[in-house]
Amino acid sequence: MNEFFRVPENIDGIKDGPQFNPKEHLQLEMPEKVYGLDEFGYRQDIIDQAPYPIAVTTPFRLLSESGLKALRDSIEALKVHRKNSERMANFIRGSAFYSPFIRDFCLNPEVNEHISKIAGVKVLPHPMALYQGHINLCPEEKGREVDRWHTDTVTLDYVLMVSDPTAYKGGHFEYFKCTKGQAIKAMIREESEPHIVKVEFPGAGMAILQQGNMVVHRASALTEGSERTTFVQSFIPDKVNFNDVSKLDDCKLVDPHDILYSEWARYKAFLSQRRLAKLCREIPYTEDKNKICLELRAAIRDVEEAILEISDPSSGRLIHLGQDALTDHL
Ligand SMILES: [Fe+2]
Repeated sequence: MNEFFRVPENIDGIKDGPQFNPKEHLQLEMPEKVYGLDEFGYRQDIIDQAPYPIAVTTPFRLLSESGLKALRDSIEALKVHRKNSERMANFIRGSAFYSPFIRDFCLNPEVNEHISKIAGVKVLPHPMALYQGHINLCPEEKGREVDRWHTDTVTLDYVLMVSDPTAYKGGHFEYFKCTKGQAIKAMIREESEPHIVKVEFPGAGMAILQQGNMVVHRASALTEGSERTTFVQSFIPDKVNFNDVSKLDDCKLVDPHDILYSEWARYKAFLSQRRLAKLCREIPYTEDKNKICLELRAAIRDVEEAILEISDPSSGRLIHLGQDALTDHL
């Protein structure tokens, strides 16, 4: 994936920040528990279609103390780029473009192998750098959720606790331990409490891994303190065919368009390129023109969809499971 990474011409990166050293900065440990989609009540046919068997893990260590310090220093230098949206209160996107430490951490092969082992499927860092090293900061508005109830439009991501979790109260990473449909029904009936799990991070430098498209989750409001930073890294399964849940609409409101559309085109071209390469290797010699055309069409489907999405003039929307959005997910 390293060769795929490109920094847009108009971005001036951090010149003198920390450099990533995996030996010094990583401390890769396994989670105590990995919850499967079956434990969330998903039916077997749904599990079979999902890219990974897992739903969410308990916290596990990713970074050493010195790795944590280097990440905190890198994030500090990026705070000039923070933004807000209706769903997320205070965040930084595209950090891997600016920070060499974050770029090398996100693309590190040891981390990738570790995440693959936990997920039960070989993964790749998400090819779009905009999905690498997403940073959620503490909302400036008191009582506001860090991130509202939602499912992700990436297939797999870890949420790494950067702040000292004893330095604030509230601000929990929370999820519904049930299917998406059950979570939404429980929210409508306001019966959500019995299903909600509040994650207690035992310390900074620890992460949870989730198949975020299958788990309804949020980060709740802080009740005390003003420092809570998390770092979210996304992955795709290293498979030629998988159900890509990403949506350009999601990014239109939060990412600069001069970067987003080109990154989207590169990502979808990457997916189609893999499908076309498989077709070159495996297409049978046959007179069946219909079969050949269907295979060609399937191989370029991502590119065709990207053209339609990029041409769409609408402003996009970042869905959360607030009152207005509930009907969209039923
Ligand atoms: Fe999320």
